[in-house]
Amino acid sequence: MNKKSGILTYDIEKVLVEEKDIIKRIKDLGRQITEDYAGKDLLMVSLLKGSVIFLSDLVRSIDLPLEFAFLTITNYSRGTKPLIRPKVGERSLDDIEGRDVILVEDILDTGNTIAYAQQWIARKNPASFETAVFCSKKKQRSSEIREPKYVGFTVPDRFVVGYGLDYAEKYRNLPLVGILRDVQ
Ligand code: XMP
Ligand code: MG
Repeated sequence: MNKKSGILTYDIEKVLVEEKDIIKRIKDLGRQITEDYAGKDLLMVSLLKGSVIFLSDLVRSIDLPLEFAFLTITNYSRGTKPLIRPKVGERSLDDIEGRDVILVEDILDTGNTIAYAQQWIARKNPASFETAVFCSKKKQRSSEIREPKYVGFTVPDRFVVGYGLDYAEKYRNLPLVGILRDVQ
């Protein structure tokens, strides 16, 4: 267990990624994006809310002029019926046509959310389009996606929390990634 354990870490059964490793990995991703996007018109589009922590560390590791914007995708369900249709809500999104866009997401699980967001962005004709995910679960995807070019960590197919990832809206502020006790 992390030496800096606080109250939230008592709920964690297993730490998957320590804070120091997150910091190091995000610096690496930032360096890679800095090289890849020199001279480009970079717009980072972050899916709320889970990717906010990742975005805020990532942008500070990129040594280039850039902009960021936020997008909300809500999965609607009526009563006990499963998902009807995701709704995209735009949040301070400028026209992305002709921009070099990186979609930023917290975690890639089934791929449904990213597939929907990717299709939505692609329809707006960006000049280029890549995806960055903080975590990717090792599993079969149920939706076809453009594979993320930038992946922070590959995690097992378990429910994980921390660093933006929540359980019932809690644990997003945990500075590490772990598996909760008594979940699943
Ligand atoms: P899909 O299945 O669409 O899932 O790829 C992506 C969205 O589902 C949420 N998600 C998780 N959230 N821990 C979380 O806190 C997890 O292990 C997890 N798996 C999926 C997340 O909101 C993500 O945007
Ligand atoms: Mg999410």
